[in-house]
Amino acid sequence: MKDVLAELDRYYDTVPRRHARVEELGPFTLFAGDPDGWTFCARPRLSGGGDDAAAGAASYDVASVRSVLDRMSELGLPQVVEWVHELTPELLDAVRADGTLEVEEIPLMVLAGGSTPPAPPPDVTVRVLGPSDLDAIAEARAVAALAFAAPGTEAGEAGTSERDAALEPVPDALVEVLREGGVGWVALEHDVHGVVACGRHLPVGATTEVVGVATLPAFRRRGLAAHVTTALVGHALAGGVDTVFLTASSAAVARLYARLGFEHVGTAYAAERA
Ligand SMILES: CC(C)(COP(=O)(O)OP(=O)(O)OC[C@H]1O[C@@H](n2cnc3c(N)ncnc32)[C@H](O)[C@@H]1OP(=O)(O)O)[C@@H](O)C(=O)NCCC(=O)NCCS
Repeated sequence: MKDVLAELDRYYDTVPRRHARVEELGPFTLFAGDPDGWTFCARPRLSGGGDDAAAGAASYDVASVRSVLDRMSELGLPQVVEWVHELTPELLDAVRADGTLEVEEIPLMVLAGGSTPPAPPPDVTVRVLGPSDLDAIAEARAVAALAFAAPGTEAGEAGTSERDAALEPVPDALVEVLREGGVGWVALEHDVHGVVACGRHLPVGATTEVVGVATLPAFRRRGLAAHVTTALVGHALAGGVDTVFLTASSAAVARLYARLGFEHVGTAYAAERA
């Protein structure tokens, strides 16, 4: 299992390097990216990468945690440390001993087997979005914003009129990432109502993370997220990816992914100083 966790760790180390300046600080790598773009955090240094002697000499104790957080504060960044628990188990004790951090436990799930849900309802089309699908991308972004504002898996009020009221122009940078293949985007489009569910995956070499799976609250509990996830997996595998992983935000969400062939392989932690 450590091999796949090391692969996920390498993925997490690679993604922010595209957008962030990198500092090596004791046993940590600090990604100093855009505080609004989620491209900042400190992570344990990858073993085998960079100045291993320096990384090995320092240990994950309260002093090293404080030192990297203080540097993030100095840079005006939110103070966040993220790691794969099984690879650096001692970091959890150090973070807890610091006493100023809020710790979130995040189950890591990797696609192990395949399981195909039944065909989507006849009035819903699965679409892979490209850089010219600006209207559908704008709807998908509004669907995601409304869905994550109503966490959990229960159905809710927000529907297509709320989605349409939340539409915003698609940023050029996003279109560029789509053009470069840095994101695979799937939307479920209803014949009458437009985009009602969506999700993305972010390939890096042969590894990809499924993120942002979202169903408009008024359209939940009809199997739509299962179709989004299956379509994302199909798109990733067709593009040459061989490891598809995701994090589950709750036990109910983990159950949904487990039915589609994802298995719990480990635990990530995110610790943030308020
Ligand atoms: C999580 C989320 C994407 C699920 O969307 P969804 O389209 O409702 O998901 P599904 O319909 O595939 O599955 C949800 C439940 O409905 C059930 N269901 C599926 N088809 C059904 C049907 N035809 N009739 C009744 N129930 C059905 C599923 O079995 C599942 O039940 P369970 O909770 O008991 O396991 C959605 O709730 C959401 O957007 N949540 C907020 C954002 C979020 O947390 N995203 C996940 C990030 S990790």
